[in-house]
Amino acid sequence: MMSYILVALLTLLVRTSFHCGSINSFAGPFNVWIERADPCYEDDKRLHIKFSHYNPSKKFEPQVWNGIVNLTRAVDDTWWIKAPFSIRNNNQWKKNAIVLTALRNGCSGARSVMPSDLQELTTKRGTPCRFKQGVFYFRNLTVKLEFPKFPQLPYGHYRMELEAGQQDEKKAEYCFKTVAHVIPKL
Ligand SMILES: *[C@@H]1O[C@H](CO)[C@@H](O)[C@H](O)[C@H]1NC(C)=O
Ligand SMILES: *[C@@H]1O[C@H](CO)[C@@H](O)[C@H](O)[C@H]1NC(C)=O
Repeated sequence: MMSYILVALLTLLVRTSFHCGSINSFAGPFNVWIERADPCYEDDKRLHIKFSHYNPSKKFEPQVWNGIVNLTRAVDDTWWIKAPFSIRNNNQWKKNAIVLTALRNGCSGARSVMPSDLQELTTKRGTPCRFKQGVFYFRNLTVKLEFPKFPQLPYGHYRMELEAGQQDEKKAEYCFKTVAHVIPKL
């Protein structure tokens, strides 16, 4: 989800587009911490995760996740994924500061950028990609939000809305939104 960030470097397997507007902030090596993640619609109960608090006075510690994600339909490479990011700038949300889309091969696109601590959600790399249907429980799971494909990102306060749908369907099956912070690597 979240933070399957940026693209440029994604494999050509995945049809992606990446553009980064004139973001008024410095970019560099980073850590990410998540403020919250919620379904886009209140009546959707398929995502419920609590993230441990980030303590800025401490050396960066990966956050601990507790909760569930309920994938009521498997996601494979017949799916599309869109993840536009807004960044907080001059007291406003600047939309589409970063846009990550996979118009096809959505599963592979997500899998190729997903932090390794979340890899249980998908089939292994090198095999046909699939987010398995089912309920995933996060129980005090320490998740390092590492994105080897993206050595640098602009620092800031981000909002991201992740949508995923099956190729023949315009309407998204899943819509999750995340608020996160990209901070200089500690
Ligand atoms: C997951 O979603 C299905 C379909 O809506 C529902 O029947 C099931 O109870 C949900 N499971 C959990 C643990 O929320
Ligand atoms: C998670 O860890 C906390 C603190 O160590 C503990 O109190 C809690 O019971 C644990 N929860 C689960 C689901 O294991």
